[in-house]
Amino acid sequence: MLYVVVSIGCDKVAFWKKQKTQKNKVLPVHIGIIMDGNGRWAKKRGLPRSAGHKAGADNFRKIAKYCSKIGIKYLTVYAFSTENWRRPSDEVDFLMRLFKQYLEESLRDFKEENIRVIFIGDRNAFSEDLQTRINEVEASSKICTGMVLNIAMNYGGRSEILKAVKSISEDVKESKLSIEDITEQTLSDKMYTYNQPDPDLIIRPSGEFRTSNFLIWQSAYSEYLFLDTLWPDFKPVDLEKALDKYALRNRRFGGI
Ligand code: IPE
Ligand code: IPE
Ligand code: MG
Repeated sequence: MLYVVVSIGCDKVAFWKKQKTQKNKVLPVHIGIIMDGNGRWAKKRGLPRSAGHKAGADNFRKIAKYCSKIGIKYLTVYAFSTENWRRPSDEVDFLMRLFKQYLEESLRDFKEENIRVIFIGDRNAFSEDLQTRINEVEASSKICTGMVLNIAMNYGGRSEILKAVKSISEDVKESKLSIEDITEQTLSDKMYTYNQPDPDLIIRPSGEFRTSNFLIWQSAYSEYLFLDTLWPDFKPVDLEKALDKYALRNRRFGGI
């Protein structure tokens, strides 16, 4: 077991060093973005918070397409957390309507760009109508072979880990798995992001220095970048700057 963990660690370091010596900029394989600051963006302009969410949603579309264009393989965006239900009901209702509208319009664009859309999070809390659309979008997007776009909606890292633990416990109870055979990989395989590499880079605009429950299992060795820019103002040029900074990071994964 120890050998497996150590050897995975070494592979990662070797892969990173090899990439570093290549001429082109080292691109993250998987980027996570915490799309924060919509409300403050609107407030600065004397607009209702809903206008900020609309601007944020438009920006999400642009940045997702840009990531796909430059060759990012996986993008995970945080759109609605398990804690965001605490907001006033009119804001939550507006966000749900916005998601529905997006499922109808914008996500069609992604199909044209060959982007595969996956929803991560507990979708059971959404209206039946929204759930049906989520399922439809995912099903129709299965044939896409380009960038994988994970949209985190009603997502929380802790609830994801809890779900994994419960599922593993069931497997043990039904004798499908013995406790000795539970590894880190067993847990990774139970996450919404199973079969996907962990995020290399996580960007949080809006000036907050916290993760707010985003990909907490998967981000053990992610590089973080916290920016003051508010999400609707985050442009492809800001992403390029973020990628430049990422390329200069020295990732060691516990090695030297
Ligand atoms: C992020 O922007 C969008 C969601 C969490 C749904 P916010 O709405 O949190 O914007 P701020 O942080 O209040 O500016
Ligand atoms: C994180 O932003 C969640 C999303 C961007 C979807 P929040 O605005 O909810 O985070 P906190 O409350 O500032 O930590
Ligand atoms: Mg916020």
